[in-house]
Amino acid sequence: MKETAPITLTIDGREITVTPGTTIIEAAAAVGIDIPHLCYCPGLKSTGSCRLCIVEIEGLRSPVVACKRKATPGIVVHTDSPTIREARRFVVELLLSRHPRECLACDKSGTCQLQRYAYELGARADHFLVEYPNHPVDDGNPFILRDPNYCVLCGRCVRICHLQGAGILDFIDRGLKTKVGTPWDRPLDQSGCDFCGSCVEVCPTAALIERQQRGRGREWELRRSTSVCGYCGAACAVDMHLKGDEIVRTSTPQQVDYLCARGRFGWAHLSHPERLTMPLVRENGTLVTADWAEALDAAANGLTAVRGQWGPGSVGGIIGTGVSNEVAHAFQRLMRAGLGTDNLDTSLGFKGLDVLRDIHEIYSGKRATLEDIAGADVLLVIGDAARRSPAIWPKVKQALASGASLIYVGFYHGRLAKAASVWLRSRPEAAEAVLHHMAATLLRLDEGGRLPGRRYGDFRNYRTALQRALTKPVPDPEGPDESDLIAACTFFGDLSRKAVVIFAVDGITRGTASAAVNLAYLTGRTERAVYPAVSAANAAGILTVLGNGKAPAESGSRGTPLFAGKTLVRGLYVLAEDPLSTFPDSERWREMMGKLDFLVVQDMFLTPTAALADVVLPASSHVEEGGSFISAAGQLVRFDRVIPPVGMGNPEILAQIGARLGIPRLRDVNDPTAEIERLASNCTAPGSKPALFAPSVSHFVVEDTPGISLVGYASCFHPVHDAKLRRSGFAELEPYDGDGIALSPEDAEALGIVEGVEVVALSPHSQVSARVKIDNGLLPGVALVSPDAPVALALLGGSWPLGPVPIQLSVTTT
Ligand code: SF4
Ligand code: SF4
Ligand code: SF4
Ligand code: FES
Repeated sequence: MKETAPITLTIDGREITVTPGTTIIEAAAAVGIDIPHLCYCPGLKSTGSCRLCIVEIEGLRSPVVACKRKATPGIVVHTDSPTIREARRFVVELLLSRHPRECLACDKSGTCQLQRYAYELGARADHFLVEYPNHPVDDGNPFILRDPNYCVLCGRCVRICHLQGAGILDFIDRGLKTKVGTPWDRPLDQSGCDFCGSCVEVCPTAALIERQQRGRGREWELRRSTSVCGYCGAACAVDMHLKGDEIVRTSTPQQVDYLCARGRFGWAHLSHPERLTMPLVRENGTLVTADWAEALDAAANGLTAVRGQWGPGSVGGIIGTGVSNEVAHAFQRLMRAGLGTDNLDTSLGFKGLDVLRDIHEIYSGKRATLEDIAGADVLLVIGDAARRSPAIWPKVKQALASGASLIYVGFYHGRLAKAASVWLRSRPEAAEAVLHHMAATLLRLDEGGRLPGRRYGDFRNYRTALQRALTKPVPDPEGPDESDLIAACTFFGDLSRKAVVIFAVDGITRGTASAAVNLAYLTGRTERAVYPAVSAANAAGILTVLGNGKAPAESGSRGTPLFAGKTLVRGLYVLAEDPLSTFPDSERWREMMGKLDFLVVQDMFLTPTAALADVVLPASSHVEEGGSFISAAGQLVRFDRVIPPVGMGNPEILAQIGARLGIPRLRDVNDPTAEIERLASNCTAPGSKPALFAPSVSHFVVEDTPGISLVGYASCFHPVHDAKLRRSGFAELEPYDGDGIALSPEDAEALGIVEGVEVVALSPHSQVSARVKIDNGLLPGVALVSPDAPVALALLGGSWPLGPVPIQLSVTTT
């Protein structure tokens, strides 16, 4: 039987009581005794390799390693005896014999654990014959400087890289040549590194450091402030390490947590030289620097003039999906109360708006959180959710490490397919059908009638519709067979196991999302069993706030006149969005903007859209404002201002324009208002009853189209087309990520195309040139483009959810 009684032991004369399983190093830390350690890292499995944490236990002849040895009742431990200090000094002196003596100029000086222990133990650097390894340095990427010469082989980076799901770091070579390397010892940017930076965070020396930090501040000069990442709906917490008002580096608030590359390194744009600091006003056809009062007057007067001449319906606003609830709230009040227009829009129309709205209506329970994913026994992942919101993958890995089963529905033979217990192969257009087949299989296997979904009022309708729909064959030669479906249902149909269904709202169709929710309901998983990932940081918040209480929003649809370009909007206010770069059909937008009487753009940079404006106002980042987001999990996530805005800041700009339009209360926009809390709680607790969605045949019958279908699939972790990311160093990763078309080796061979060749791609929407990348993970017949890439916007033409569309490829002959 497992021992549960508390354990009392003595460490350095202090009596301590701990729970069974606690190691000596943890017990000591609990009472403030810091046992020297290098390979041990709280949150990572101990390996006991460095031997620095040795301690003496009375009655034992040899020292033991405190990071591995569990506390047992009555033991008396000495952590700092002369014998122990001598043994530790020996360990440190051995390490120093192979370590560069660059402490004077080393960025890690002051926080390096080797330096600290060498000092505390009085270690001599030349006690042993000094022999430097002279490993080559890996400095070919914008984010991580890897110098194995500083490495003490503690293995923390290896363990965390595996924990976070990349698993590219490992020990290579033997004996004195041992070092930490990547597969085939390639540089990080050619090795499949996700640039999550977790390894940098746990490294005790300067073997791994953030490039952007170099020479910009020692740790003791930095202050730390917690904020939230604004690049996707996971809303990961980020600790900013600041020198003055500059973000020098970032970390996770809790050690061994996760940030993806964007959350870790995507902040340099804030101090980029191209950042706008002063407003611009168009004079005689040219944008010239103006003072704030002049620009704000021009913005307010210009919009008022359009409204005065053409009526309120002639004015509109477009808002980015990364702004806070408070800024969105102020913006919609400015447009509605200040200018009398309801023409408000976002990019969500082609980024999952319908699914986002549907989920609010059809999933009655609280949404799952990332922690629910990590703690699940069964995970059903559909499509590219884990790529659109990278925080998902480490949580999936954690669940798998605890014995969870993974069912993956998708067409890509990548990490998910490789880790899956069952891979239900499905081309994107067939995903809904696969899920309905899974539901039918669940019902067929449920001989005892135990499935809770059978008790829902609409079960009969649902079953009838399901049976009718499934009489139509789904011609997908790559699709799952009966045994795959039964295997998936064996895992998912085990009602004793906690299951979470994961999909990206902007990566699947409405029918697929409903079919996924049906599976949760059928098996009685009505609470915290659905995680609708979103690529946009505050999609749920923007939708809710723009909806102005009609949660989820009625506005923000691609069907609005503004988006469809039907209404002749003559005055437009664009906040934190760049339609000319990031919306499909940019030429139409350019044409439409050319017809405007007046355009105001509020952005951090002079984007292509801003370059057309009559007034450009320098925008701020959410970390310069404070406020709140609504996360993918439906939670209201608050954050404080971390640094001041370089200019006036979004809330103040909106307040100033509001004041000019006669609405003085906009000045309070930075206070999280009761209204935002009310809207958010509406979003988190929809309160409807669980109901099964009856499928219709027309929803998902797949036409067997020969040839190649193009899909917008988050094939990379770093969408380099974001103006902020480009200016944060991500553009340098472009050769790695590519703005091209990925093809399966089979299709490439059939077309006589090799990696890197430029092709002309023809879709029903457009014809563009693109470079080909061969992707071994792809099934034949499917080609990929990164959803944010210009080539995707052109070829897919805004079709949603980003394909599939048939394409033809031909090699350019130049
Ligand atoms: S950055 Fe992340 S993925 Fe890359 S080596 Fe470090 S831990 Fe691994
Ligand atoms: S690179 Fe850093 S974390 Fe990795 S083994 Fe070396 S010293 Fe340890
Ligand atoms: S997963 Fe999303 S929220 Fe988390 S760090 Fe990455 S982009 Fe930011
Ligand atoms: S810290 Fe315990 S052996 Fe390294």
